Amino acid sequence: MERTFIMVKPDGVQRNIVGDVVTRFEKKGFQLVGAKLMNVSEDLAKEHYKEHKEKPFFGELVDFITSSPVFAMVWEGENAVTVARKMLGKTNPAEAEVGTIRGDYGLQVAKNVVHGSDSNESATREISLFFNESELVNYTKLI
Ligand code: CMP
Repeated sequence: MERTFIMVKPDGVQRNIVGDVVTRFEKKGFQLVGAKLMNVSEDLAKEHYKEHKEKPFFGELVDFITSSPVFAMVWEGENAVTVARKMLGKTNPAEAEVGTIRGDYGLQVAKNVVHGSDSNESATREISLFFNESELVNYTKLI
């Protein structure tokens, strides 16, 4: 079973979209195995986004993600990484299909509401950056 890391960014938290994001993942059939509202430190932001270190928007990206709390989650299910990315929509909300989270709630690429892991390797890395093993639960779905 795959796991993926999903984070509602500061814009999504401040616009009260957390509940809708959680509901979409629940209704799709994924299982929540970890979640927390947290502030992202500058060190964590730089590590999380290190692949974008050389990009012109890196400073803006770090400033934004550290500006206000995020809601970090780990979701589990079949093909979690790929399916979650479809649910999020294209990175730029202006290009994201209506019906996706970014397509329904975003307008600007810098404030695109949610982040989701782009591969299984990224998911493993991002989950371990944001969560301790003790913060993740294992349980059998009864229904
Ligand atoms: P995310 O999925 O969190 O991963 C990297 C982020 O960089 C991306 O979402 C966007 O929010 C952000 N990003 C990508 N391109 C730009 C850009 N041109 N200007 C500002 N931010 C960007």
